Amino acid sequence: MILNGPNLNLLGLRQPHIYGTDTLADVERLCVEAANRHGATVDMRQSNHEGQLVDWVQEAREHHDGIVINPAAYSHTSVALLDALSACEGRPIVEVHISNIHRREEFRRHSYVSGVADAVIAGCGVQGYAFGVERVCQLITAG
Ligand code: DQA
Repeated sequence: MILNGPNLNLLGLRQPHIYGTDTLADVERLCVEAANRHGATVDMRQSNHEGQLVDWVQEAREHHDGIVINPAAYSHTSVALLDALSACEGRPIVEVHISNIHRREEFRRHSYVSGVADAVIAGCGVQGYAFGVERVCQLITAG
């Protein structure tokens, strides 16, 4: 499952100097291609609502083999998402940020999600999602 947090529905329109001009539909295509190379499928979703993201993480815990998540602003605030992801033991989790959060404002440098992620990708643009899918597929295969 590929999860996207708040404002990522505006990808391509929102602060293109930071996030680029590709849309979330373009990101989905990249992810499908990356997953297909591993014989996997993707289920990509976006929500502006924290509780909805928590519900989807819980769904992934039951029905999906791994999670790629760009929690967006909730990275920096959400203990609820951290707890939901912590309950996904045994499922690979890769956190993706389009921008390099370490080169931006101080408050972006800490992510609650990083503490439970198997890998964190930041600053690779939207290609980071494809890297995230690749890594999750590798971890699933490795068992
Ligand atoms: C982001 C970085 C976050 O700090 C920000 O709130 C976002 C997007 C990224 O992909 O670079 O919305 O997660």
